[in-house]
Amino acid sequence: MMPPSAAAGPIPETNPRPARRPRYPGKNPRAFHQKYKELNSDSYPETVRKVEASGKTAAGTHRPICTQEILGVLSPRPGQIGIDATLGYGGHAERLLQSLNPGGFLLGLDTDGVQLQRATARLRTLGYGPESFEGIQTNFAGIGRLVPARWPGGVDFILADLGCSSMQLDDPLRGFSFKHQGPLDMRMNQNKGPSAAEWLGSVKEDRLARALREHGDVLNAEAMARGLCDARKSAPIRTTTDLKEIVRRLCPMLGGKLRSPKDPVIEPIIRQVFQAVRIAVNDEFSALEMFLRAAAGCLKPGGRLAVLTFHSGEDRRVKAALKRDGARGVYGAVAGDVLRPAAEEIRGNPRASSAKLRWAVKAPSA
Ligand SMILES: C[S@@+](CC[C@H](N)C(=O)[O-])C[C@H]1O[C@@H](n2cnc3c(N)ncnc32)[C@H](O)[C@@H]1O
Repeated sequence: MMPPSAAAGPIPETNPRPARRPRYPGKNPRAFHQKYKELNSDSYPETVRKVEASGKTAAGTHRPICTQEILGVLSPRPGQIGIDATLGYGGHAERLLQSLNPGGFLLGLDTDGVQLQRATARLRTLGYGPESFEGIQTNFAGIGRLVPARWPGGVDFILADLGCSSMQLDDPLRGFSFKHQGPLDMRMNQNKGPSAAEWLGSVKEDRLARALREHGDVLNAEAMARGLCDARKSAPIRTTTDLKEIVRRLCPMLGGKLRSPKDPVIEPIIRQVFQAVRIAVNDEFSALEMFLRAAAGCLKPGGRLAVLTFHSGEDRRVKAALKRDGARGVYGAVAGDVLRPAAEEIRGNPRASSAKLRWAVKAPSA
């Protein structure tokens, strides 16, 4: 069955310019699915440029973060083979492919079949055929089987840019963001596992408290978990607005006042709860740990790994894994300090503000 947003959203590669624009009240489209120009970014590049110049990300696109830093770390060259383990919109992939050709090959992975299909079609229209790019819908947790089966001697580089893309966050039908009303789904792979609504409906209170504490750094996670479990007894938590409103109402119990969800004190708590639930629903930390254990075994001697993280739980795991494998001599060089996006990039794209890039180079004899 086709996932709901694939059915509802315009797919640029098959319908680049809709015959009739969707109807909307007022002068400019406000809702995600009304933004037909942004959603057809290839046909309306000027509109996308204007949106990006205002510091926003155009609907249905994603701006790659730390691109120059990643190209510097991975140093892609013509003829090399690389893996983009988190293809997303294919923004990094596009830049990597420019350096890999002629003669190179990039394998793009994404657990989200809708994004994978769109990014693959986008890269095809840019001229990257099956001889230079292939996309596979899979979780990067399985990289340790996938890559050696195809390239027993390993590949030249691997990139992972963790978390969700702007397309996933901005699409109300995916339910990732408290900023848009929508079904509380949050699954990156919509064909697998329970949705966030189903997970919140059945998770045990102590497991929920652990997720809130470990995945979202929620202070007083036990009280928040108790409040959420009490709330679900009176009505199921079905939508992003349901969850946002419950968290807002629980905030006085956690020592705050009852304020608007946009209040600078409440908004970070809502954000933390959404992040914790998303990480739990997608089992993101287990996937990351499996990926990090297998990454060095997928690289050639001298091959390079770059991992871009967006919060402390991810960065801690990447730092620890690279340190461990560096100490075992698997990596010959490991990033001492994280690389951060330049201030100018953060000004132009606020989503870059929490990004941290770590890297490692496989030892020549490992
Ligand atoms: C931040 S976006 C990547 C954006 C991409 N670098 C670009 O420039 O367009 C992260 C992507 O990774 C995917 N993803 C997250 N966890 C994954 C996993 N465990 N396995 C495979 N894909 C994953 C998400 O579905 C999302 O599309």
